[in-house]
Amino acid sequence: MSKPPRHPLSASALFIREWLRRPNQIGAIAPSSRHLGNAMARWLPADPDDLVVELGPGTGAITQALMAHGLKASQLVAIEKSPELVAVLRERFPAISIITGDAREMAALLREHGRGEHRVGAVMSSLPLRQFKEEFTRSLADAIRRLLRPGGCWVQYSYHLGNSGQHGSEKFHLRCSDIVWRNLPPARVSVYQKHAA
Ligand SMILES: C[S@@+](CC[C@H](N)C(=O)[O-])C[C@H]1O[C@@H](n2cnc3c(N)ncnc32)[C@H](O)[C@@H]1O
Repeated sequence: MSKPPRHPLSASALFIREWLRRPNQIGAIAPSSRHLGNAMARWLPADPDDLVVELGPGTGAITQALMAHGLKASQLVAIEKSPELVAVLRERFPAISIITGDAREMAALLREHGRGEHRVGAVMSSLPLRQFKEEFTRSLADAIRRLLRPGGCWVQYSYHLGNSGQHGSEKFHLRCSDIVWRNLPPARVSVYQKHAA
């Protein structure tokens, strides 16, 4: 399923190198913990025909958790902006479709890669939204809402532990919002559900 990375740098070292290069794009100082991955994976769709789209997978800690919770490789598409991280992800998860690109272009990227017609049951996002301008986050939230099937969930974590929603999340139903303390730093996982049609 997942192979140990053959990259000369460990996942943590690679992560720090990327963070030093592009701190606002990476938005964290360490890869996500297994506890955070498990908290995200709880929200995988029950229907095995639903596609799951992962945004900003980084070094693949959340990807690993999703697979460990039974998600099939064919059910997952990951979109990552950093070409260096994409190279590592492709080596680590050869069976998963990993697209280099900007999450905001998710619909067009899925179409280009032949997945435009699939029903999307969940979007799992590690994107550092608090580093982005409000306008960017709102257009991202709209793109996620258009992509999801009715009742599908956008699962987003944030290092901002206060309970305020993300820009654009007002158009969703807040299903759950919990803090995962065993992560560096602790993170809040929020689950925004698209209203039924
Ligand atoms: C907080 S890090 C992800 C950490 C990841 N959970 C891990 O354990 O490695 C955020 C990731 O989002 C990616 N990213 C930032 N902006 C993006 C965008 N507009 N589109 C796609 N990926 C983006 C960054 O390159 C980075 O890999």
